[in-house]
Amino acid sequence: MVKEFISQEKILSKNFFNCKWEAPSNIALIKYWGKSPVQIPMNPSISFTLKNCLTKTDISFEPIKNTSNKVKFEFTYNGESKSDFNSKLEIFFERIINYQPFLIDYYLKINSVNNFPHSSGIASSASAMAALSACLIDFENSHNPIVKKHKKTSFLSRLGSGSACRSVSGPIMTWGKHSKIPKSNDFYATKFLGYHQIFDTYCDSILLVDSGKKEVSSTLGHELMKKHPFASSRFKQAKNNFSLLCVALKSGDLDSFIKIVENEALQLHAMMMTSNPYFILIKPKTLNIINEIRDFRRKFNIPICFTLDAGANVHLLYPQIHKSDVLEFIKKNLSIYCNNCYINDEVGVGIKKIKFVL
Ligand code: PMV
Repeated sequence: MVKEFISQEKILSKNFFNCKWEAPSNIALIKYWGKSPVQIPMNPSISFTLKNCLTKTDISFEPIKNTSNKVKFEFTYNGESKSDFNSKLEIFFERIINYQPFLIDYYLKINSVNNFPHSSGIASSASAMAALSACLIDFENSHNPIVKKHKKTSFLSRLGSGSACRSVSGPIMTWGKHSKIPKSNDFYATKFLGYHQIFDTYCDSILLVDSGKKEVSSTLGHELMKKHPFASSRFKQAKNNFSLLCVALKSGDLDSFIKIVENEALQLHAMMMTSNPYFILIKPKTLNIINEIRDFRRKFNIPICFTLDAGANVHLLYPQIHKSDVLEFIKKNLSIYCNNCYINDEVGVGIKKIKFVL
């Protein structure tokens, strides 16, 4: 138990309460892949928080009499009942109940909506868990003020989905203990400070090669790392890449940035391809896009690179000053590989409260 985040047992003035928050997705530059209980990463990670790929979640809290030790809730997606998420939410509430014991006394009506396809390799669980946690913290804070609101939001988010803890703030977040980052820890994410200003302008164009359901859940992927023959080497390399990326982020050395970020994406997929059972999530079109990016970079000397999540989609990362060239490149050379489906995003700052009208 992490003592600093344990809340008072009860909320004394039991009234109806509602609130609405939005949270963005994030894209890892140094990948988190492999964990120990409960949601403790095997290596530290770094991500860009996004701006446009969002989950919006509202929760109504209704006081109830509940003699069980389980949080009572209902979940709708865009107003429609969606039972597929119930088991994930049950696990989440079991994990956080020691930190927000008063939730037992309420019935939670949760409604959520994403503005991008979920289960497609864009980390929808990250934005979903961050938005949900932001609502829970808002509720707690409006009754019993919390000193470290953002930290606790990140802490709760992590218990829903590890990478979600990095979506709470931005634009660059780290999660997991590392000697190079003061105050870094395995329980919540911290802002990466002192980075070069070029990274404030970073864009992420996400090419939707495959917007269907993911073939492997990240839960299974993390689990497979436990017996993975290359696990210890991977964790070592991730830590080393983390140190190198810290230097590149501070100096603005884009050549190093590109090398490290692409290496991390390929290591993630190499782990999936060499686990037992194995998963090949990249598609031939993913490889075509990667080859095109390398050619384009060489030919025009534009510092664009790719990264991948646990899926076939390709994230193109580049500074804003090259946006018009990159968009033209996408239209001309890449749109055939993604059926002209792509999302233009950029770095953002994290969760935001939205006015809630019932
Ligand atoms: O947060 P999870 O359990 O969905 O795992 C996320 C794993 C990756 O997205 C592949 C990498 C990362 O660090 O976000």
